[in-house]
Amino acid sequence: MSAPRVLVLAGSLRRASLNKRLAKFAAKQVEEAGLSATYLDLKDYPLPVYDGDDEAEHGVPENARSLRQAFIDHEGLILVCPEYNGSISGALKNVIDWISRPDGDVPMTAAFRDLTALLLAASPGGLGGLRGLVHVRAILEGVGVFVIPQQLAVSAAHKVFDDEGAWLDETAEQRLRGVVEPLLATAGKLFGG
Ligand SMILES: Cc1cc2nc3c(=O)[nH]c(=O)nc-3n(C[C@H](O)[C@H](O)[C@H](O)COP(=O)(O)O)c2cc1C
Repeated sequence: MSAPRVLVLAGSLRRASLNKRLAKFAAKQVEEAGLSATYLDLKDYPLPVYDGDDEAEHGVPENARSLRQAFIDHEGLILVCPEYNGSISGALKNVIDWISRPDGDVPMTAAFRDLTALLLAASPGGLGGLRGLVHVRAILEGVGVFVIPQQLAVSAAHKVFDDEGAWLDETAEQRLRGVVEPLLATAGKLFGG
């Protein structure tokens, strides 16, 4: 069984995003385990808010096609999800909506088929974005992604890693490893190319 390739992205656009920092730590841990990780920043793939009229007139935007292809090219996914009002961020939901659209010969399920996902969240708040993960899990499972039961919500995240991307809390680093490892094992067993 060959090793799964892992796509890592955060559902936040802002440059100083805590979730992006956590995503980069997760990507590093995947690489330390000897596997390939691709970190993508959604700010590099700006998309209009999904509008069926826009789609009918112009088709699926090029950036959505690129993101869809990235999903297709990986067997593992680490999605790091900011919690907005107890739920998924608009930016992340918009990406999922765009890449789930049928597009020429590409069926709506293409991006999500044969994909195993790990959900992470980071928040300055006390629950770490845990409530939002419940919704992200339901959405991903609804489009056919296998989401592993292990997950991690990092509370008080601004005190757990600094602006330079260094861990301030070793326990959190170990907790991250404790959920990244099951993702790699499960993705390898299910879909390792
Ligand atoms: C519209 C909005 C709603 C938010 N709702 C929540 C929330 O429900 N729970 C929470 O823990 N933090 C909430 N926050 C705070 C975010 O967790 C915080 O801004 C976090 O840093 C955003 O993620 P980022 O750093 O990756 O951009 C909210 C922030 C915004 C802008």
